[in-house]
Amino acid sequence: MTDTAQILPTTLEKNSDNISKKPLLGVNVDHVATLRQARGVSYPSPLAAALLCEKAGADGITIHLREDRRHIQDADVYEMAGQLTTRMNLEMAATTEMLEIACQVKPYWVCLVPEKRAELTTEGGLDVAGQLASLTDYVSKLQAAGIKVSLFIDPDDKQITAAVNCGADAIELHTGSYAEAGLEDNIEQVSIELERIKNAVITAKRMDSKLLVNAGHGLTRDNVNAIAQIDGIYELNIGHALIADALFMGIEQAVITMKTAMHR
Ligand code: PXP
Repeated sequence: MTDTAQILPTTLEKNSDNISKKPLLGVNVDHVATLRQARGVSYPSPLAAALLCEKAGADGITIHLREDRRHIQDADVYEMAGQLTTRMNLEMAATTEMLEIACQVKPYWVCLVPEKRAELTTEGGLDVAGQLASLTDYVSKLQAAGIKVSLFIDPDDKQITAAVNCGADAIELHTGSYAEAGLEDNIEQVSIELERIKNAVITAKRMDSKLLVNAGHGLTRDNVNAIAQIDGIYELNIGHALIADALFMGIEQAVITMKTAMHR
């Protein structure tokens, strides 16, 4: 199935260098599929949404193929792989089933995440330190298929060290605690969590200057700027809040608004 492999357009290759040093925006379109699955019909289409996001300036598209297929379906993954003009970031659990799918689809990125069936969303980071040997093997299988691998981890030194030892190309720092503190209006906790994320970026870059450092979870146009300003952050992956904005302003405007909030 190499025909579905993601080929980078030249404009994107320039973009991937991220010469401006402003973080890129990856848009997670899972919740377009959530709306479709709520009715079991064929609309709204996550592919159509993804193409509009790209048109509006998204630098990549993220989709999470969950074990329970609650939103994104296998067909979405194959369809998008053939039609995206930026990069697909396929979030998945480190299972045998997902390895087979990823090796067929060959997305530009795979982001390995922990998955619990009962959770509403990805609750915490991957315990890389606790499964170093098996994850190192899993990461190398994906890389052997030509896929770059990111690990979704908490901003924690032990997990960063393990991710580097695992041979990952990137880490994505879980910003959920930062976002939650903001929702609770706990200003003191917001700055503690922000500091934790800043220190994690410094640690990661010190350990491996080539490691790309992404961040995501719970980011909104109101809380994104402080994260986007952190030196060394490569890309932010944003889904729920951006799709919620899209209900009121349209998805293209939601992408433009989020990018403006990131880069102001
Ligand atoms: N990054 C990862 C690894 C995720 O699992 C998610 C949620 O699917 C996100 C980013 C996006 O989070 P949110 O939907 O809260 O913006």
